[in-house]
Amino acid sequence: MTFDIGRVRAAYPALGDGYAYLDGAAGTQVPSTVIEAIAQTYRSGIGNAGGAFPASGRADSIVAECRRALADLTGASPDGVILGPNMTTLTYRLADALSRRWGPGDEVVVSRLDHDANVRPWVQAAARQGATVRWAEVDISTAELPAAQFGELVTERTRLVAVTAASNIVGTRPDVAAIAAAAHAVGALCYVDGVHATPHVPVDVRSLGADFYATSSYKWSGPHVGVVVADPALLETVHPDRLAPAPAGVPGRFERGTAAFADLAGVTAAVEHLASLDADASAAGTRRERVLASMAAVERYEGELFGRLLGGLAAMGHVTLYGKAARRTPTAFFTVAGYTPREVAGRLAARAVNVWNGDNYAWELAGAFGLRSSGGAVRAGLVHYNDEAEVDRLLAAVGELAA
Ligand SMILES: Cc1ncc(COP(=O)(O)O)c(C=O)c1O
Repeated sequence: MTFDIGRVRAAYPALGDGYAYLDGAAGTQVPSTVIEAIAQTYRSGIGNAGGAFPASGRADSIVAECRRALADLTGASPDGVILGPNMTTLTYRLADALSRRWGPGDEVVVSRLDHDANVRPWVQAAARQGATVRWAEVDISTAELPAAQFGELVTERTRLVAVTAASNIVGTRPDVAAIAAAAHAVGALCYVDGVHATPHVPVDVRSLGADFYATSSYKWSGPHVGVVVADPALLETVHPDRLAPAPAGVPGRFERGTAAFADLAGVTAAVEHLASLDADASAAGTRRERVLASMAAVERYEGELFGRLLGGLAAMGHVTLYGKAARRTPTAFFTVAGYTPREVAGRLAARAVNVWNGDNYAWELAGAFGLRSSGGAVRAGLVHYNDEAEVDRLLAAVGELAA
């Protein structure tokens, strides 16, 4: 396993601007190969899909290739890959379609660990149908989401369990396989938000037990495209609203309007980029095998870098860290005594360090931490292109804020 950070960073033109991009949990920078794939699509001439001429054929090929790439990224079937503008839009769409089967007495389980995009669409759909919402709670002292509670939360009336594969603010990676097993034991579906997990770990939707797995390409070096993968046989049973002449089959009937073809070419290039991150694996094996090897290398590299970040922050008396889950992505959430999170982000920006401040849409968890009315906290999220020098720059800048 060889992870060459110099080679990785050289792939990203934006990293040359002198800023430490520790804002990756909100969206990553893009390597040259992705930029080039998008530009090349326009340069070559692109038509709408389904026509008789070559430029239209290129659009069809781009869509098909993108589904294959996303299947390789997640372990899904290409025929079960739904493409759309972003995860939130797709999740609302699926909540609308799936909830038509719900009624009074039915139950839906959501969690306080989740980004609101995997909470509110289900809560609002349940309210429309007269179904009941049950909440999985976070242990605030650790930010763990204990899987055991799902044994009680899930009942014969449960229709769906929505849970994240990783928290976008504290990085907690709950035991999704156990949670999905609890859902399946009563015949409920499990909708997994993989937006924050996908950039950091190898993903296999089957071993997770995810009936639906959502991800967003802009979190893993691609353009702004959202994706939900599911078993095509399951999708065959779901009937979203669609235009009369639009595709009636699966997965096309879940996709609305004209796709962003050039961006989809960029998504495929981003998957290729991820597959190339382990220098040893990059020459051999199927793309699926290369993705898994590379993401294992990414997980290890990021874990070591995160140890440096957490160790440095934990040693500072003026810093309060939130979350200490046993399994987590390299995502730190903290406050600094004497400064609002926005002020900290501003001071770090003046030192050319990009971090986020606020609740980052983890609305329920920010509330559970008691941070909602005080401006949330600061989030420093590492991704595979960050390095030790950037972490040290953040630590030095936060260190300067000691009273
Ligand atoms: C964990 C998580 N879920 C969902 C979303 C929403 O994704 P999108 O911007 O694609 O709608 C985000 C975005 O920050 C996220 O971090």
